[in-house]
Amino acid sequence: MSEQLRANTSASAPLLRVRGVSVTYAAQRSIADLLARRSASGIVALDSVDLDVNAGEIVAVVGESGSGKTTLARVIAGLIAADEGVVEVEGEGPNDWRSVGMVFQDPYETLDPKRTLGEFIAEGLEAQGLPMDRVDTALEAAELLPAAAFRDRVPEELSGGQRQRVVIAGALALNPKLVIADEPVSMLDVSMRAQILALIEQLRRDQGIAWIFITHDLSLAWAISDRVVVLYLGAVVEEGTAEQVLRNPAHPYTRALLAALPSTDPGAAGTHSLAAGEIPQGDTPSGCRFRNRCAHAIEACALTRPPLEVAPGGGAEHRVACIRAAELPPLS
Ligand SMILES: Nc1ncnc2c1ncn2[C@@H]1O[C@H](COP(=O)(O)OP(=O)(O)OP(=O)(O)O)[C@@H](O)[C@H]1O
Ligand code: SF4
Ligand SMILES: [Mg+2]
Repeated sequence: MSEQLRANTSASAPLLRVRGVSVTYAAQRSIADLLARRSASGIVALDSVDLDVNAGEIVAVVGESGSGKTTLARVIAGLIAADEGVVEVEGEGPNDWRSVGMVFQDPYETLDPKRTLGEFIAEGLEAQGLPMDRVDTALEAAELLPAAAFRDRVPEELSGGQRQRVVIAGALALNPKLVIADEPVSMLDVSMRAQILALIEQLRRDQGIAWIFITHDLSLAWAISDRVVVLYLGAVVEEGTAEQVLRNPAHPYTRALLAALPSTDPGAAGTHSLAAGEIPQGDTPSGCRFRNRCAHAIEACALTRPPLEVAPGGGAEHRVACIRAAELPPLS
């Protein structure tokens, strides 16, 4: 992050403020539920999540499949409502957001194969009542140059990386202050990934756009983010600067994620499976939600949910939800 952006962000309220957000999806009733005439218990996707994102900051949200990353993205983008909690962008609630863009994992699903790139971007502008002359500017900002050569093309004429650039252009056209990118490079090959990461960094530097970068790949989080937030079963279990969380992880889950990397260096290239053992299906464990997979669990871990607290030996930004964090052996 540039010194200018750092000065701007530290002096003011966060661009995005998420407090206590919970989402439970309704579950289908099983045959056993029907026979017992009971309602199905819902799936708790998010449980009282707090998150701040400052202007011009790139925050990586990491966690295994099912940890609630996409649900969090959808709540922040206003695509689904939270059951509880508050989401504010520049102090405004969901009815007043005009500054959040969304980039999904699969550009093939986002783009209509029959519509030109210009039509795709214009559709978003029209929905927001914005002028159509932003189509070319957005294509250029996403480095689809010259814009005139791309405007009238259809998705099948483009590479996967170019398609994801079009989706990013669609988000940029709305002049966002924050873009949420949900696994934006996971379907791209390594060279395309590097180009999209460079584009995200450039848009942050040149336009001050903040990003929430959702990924299951810690090496990508390390490559792109200022801060990292680790989600486990719908809750934040650790957060801090990328250096704090990925170089000095304080939560056993984060440590397990890093141990699953082929190299101890989070900067090592590649896509890695995140953790040892399986994320539990069904009810979330009482007390610490990670305790049934944790090598350090003791009886006390079953009693209360550990709050997020300043990590031992860390700066104030480094916070961890583990009652034994101070006792864990140092990483070799
Ligand atoms: N529409 C839905 N209806 C019911 N349950 C859902 C729905 N969407 C997600 N879930 C459940 O909510 C939990 C969180 O899902 P979510 O998609 O947010 O996780 P994720 O971290 O994005 O996972 P992935 O890495 O696989 O994309 C999971 O248990 C999932 O099965
Ligand atoms: S609170 Fe207990 S179970 Fe949870 S991560 Fe810490 S040691 Fe493991
Ligand atoms: Mg997801």
